[in-house]
Amino acid sequence: GKGTYPFFMLKEIDEQPVVMRRLVEKYTDGHGNVVLPEALLAALKQADRLYIVAAGTSYHAGLVGKPLFETLAGVPTEVDLASEFGYHIPLLSKHPFFIFLSQSGETADIRQVLVKIKALGHPTLTITNVGSSTLAREADYCLELHAGPEIAVASTKAYTGQIGLEALVAQGLGIAKGNQKAAEFDAAHQLGLAAAGQQALIDQKDRLHEIATDMFKTTRNAFYIGRGTDYYASLEAALKLKEISYVQAEGFAAGELKHGTISLIEKDTPVVAYISDPVTAAHTRSNADEIAARGGKVLRIASASQATDEDQLVVNDIDPLVSPLLTIIPGQLLGYYTSVDRGYDVDKPRNLAKSVTVE
Ligand code: F6R
Repeated sequence: GKGTYPFFMLKEIDEQPVVMRRLVEKYTDGHGNVVLPEALLAALKQADRLYIVAAGTSYHAGLVGKPLFETLAGVPTEVDLASEFGYHIPLLSKHPFFIFLSQSGETADIRQVLVKIKALGHPTLTITNVGSSTLAREADYCLELHAGPEIAVASTKAYTGQIGLEALVAQGLGIAKGNQKAAEFDAAHQLGLAAAGQQALIDQKDRLHEIATDMFKTTRNAFYIGRGTDYYASLEAALKLKEISYVQAEGFAAGELKHGTISLIEKDTPVVAYISDPVTAAHTRSNADEIAARGGKVLRIASASQATDEDQLVVNDIDPLVSPLLTIIPGQLLGYYTSVDRGYDVDKPRNLAKSVTVE
């Protein structure tokens, strides 16, 4: 049950630090070494390209997987929407390996792809929160998130769980391939940092409620911007806001603003700017300034090393490869409190189902 929580979503947001620590427990040997099933590792090593296929929030977690696998394991990775991929199978590499990300393990769009890919004889891995699910059973390999049941329709702990597990698998594969970048990265340590940083944000709930009320209570639209993994977090934060509060929200690559989107900015248009990656912070900050100069209402969320006095919210420093583990927490809580402020049933948004078993 949800205990003293008004909604499952808030309970599941709160569980995320525990999910991070549990992943480390399940997938490392206690000395920071990633442990994966031998057969899976052998199959992954053969791959010349990874195809991550998913839907919705899991697709957004997949996007974060691309730089993780490319950087740590040195393997080109593409991320596809299951509902598109199923009908337009692209030209595949010689030794493709498929990773299906699905909280429920029941998403029909993914199953359609899985069936086609198996018929072609390519290896498949399902990463899921439900070990007894269809996609878990039908893929060659399965890794579980161990996040505990996710009840709220809006996915939270499965998203961060998927990113955490992608980091572990990418490092495990990189080490197995002798990749230097993987040796320099410490996924277990990063997930520990993530757990602590998430808790620090969760502890600021009341402030995030105030910010949500100020930014979103009466707005019809909202934007999230960022670059790289901050962009991927923007997409997911916007989805959280739209699906449970019915605010039309979009995530944009900050650099694309000047190529069209900035014309949407009016007086008091709410814009959340993610400024966590040191490499891109200055550029995104100047985009935020341009928006503010046009009357937009800007909320700046920065990492500790990049923060200035104008930033309303600071997240702890963490490797930018996994920064959405932290930056998404305010995105989740802003969506949650906007839904609460508007009096909606947070756990059961209109028109949506927890697992989408039709194409
Ligand atoms: C968003 C949400 C959906 C799911 C999507 C995929 O909060 O819940 O977008 O992420 O339907 O579901 P799974 O991960 O079960 O395949």
